[in-house]
Amino acid sequence: MVKKIFVLAVCACAFAAQAGLGGNMNCGLWFDDKGHHVNAHGGGVLKDGDAWYWFGEHKIYGDFGNRAYVGVHCYSSKDLVDWTDRGIALSVTNEVGHDIESGCIIERPKVVRNAKTGKYVMYFHLELKGKGYSEARVGVAVADKVTGPYAFLKSLRPNGYESRDQTVFVDDDGAAYHFFSSNRNKTMRIIRLSDDYLSHTKDEAVMADGDKTEAPAICRKDGWYYLIGSGCTGWMSNPARSYRAKSPMGPWERLGNPCVRVNPASGLGPERTWGCQSTFILKVSDSDYLAMFDMWRPKNAIDGRYAWVPVTFTDDNKIEVHWKDIVEPRGVSR
Ligand code: GAL
Repeated sequence: MVKKIFVLAVCACAFAAQAGLGGNMNCGLWFDDKGHHVNAHGGGVLKDGDAWYWFGEHKIYGDFGNRAYVGVHCYSSKDLVDWTDRGIALSVTNEVGHDIESGCIIERPKVVRNAKTGKYVMYFHLELKGKGYSEARVGVAVADKVTGPYAFLKSLRPNGYESRDQTVFVDDDGAAYHFFSSNRNKTMRIIRLSDDYLSHTKDEAVMADGDKTEAPAICRKDGWYYLIGSGCTGWMSNPARSYRAKSPMGPWERLGNPCVRVNPASGLGPERTWGCQSTFILKVSDSDYLAMFDMWRPKNAIDGRYAWVPVTFTDDNKIEVHWKDIVEPRGVSR
């Protein structure tokens, strides 16, 4: 009981302290409207109407908390700082042998809206229960409402290729591209999706061949496409890397490590991506972009943290992310 009161008091103080800062503290606890640490890891954010929707892996306590026992969690916000719990958008099932049976692995979910069909489409890395990371599949789920519920549609290896860390990027013309680590994570593959975003076309390309790039996060700015990714060291952080291209299908040019400055709390800088790994680049406005990172806590997965850091585009068309302690989404009124 005493322990419970102590924990509540600590949470309340942290909550009040963060509220005073006017933004969430990177790599700190981020509280939702119920006072719980946001549970949306490896996530991405979709703007729909006048709100932002954050989808991510719902993790549980302990080192097995990285497996999916709940599903994909959704939160909404009007300012990218205060998050309302919108519940589980995609739930795992207890049906034995089902692709998303409880205990499978669901990672890096990304939701996009198809303007033609009006449907919300979720892509995620799926590993079948009990198979480790050997199946290398992508899962697809669909909903009529942004918050779900999302109905599981299928899982597959796109055009026969292994698919692990992944994201979906929707270009200004509405075309969507699936980026995924393939070929034992040595190569990043890109496949254009069908017009309804529900299947892969034969339009495919490779990038970063041999680089072992994971954790892809993509954006477009002033005619350039940029990708930030990580190296391949599991839950352990490593130096990030960046690329640019004139088309989503490439050719992609290597740009080097985009990270700048040190996170004073961890003492880690670009050599370890501040202890984090990329997951998404959010376009907040025409001029403001936020690069989203996870700080994993593999021994107690639910305690994983987030760092959302502003993106800088340099005069010579390179992408940089300069560490900041507090999330300040410029271009968004509070
Ligand atoms: C990372 C990957 C994560 C997760 C982890 C498992 O490299 O980016 O999404 O799959 O490996 O060890």
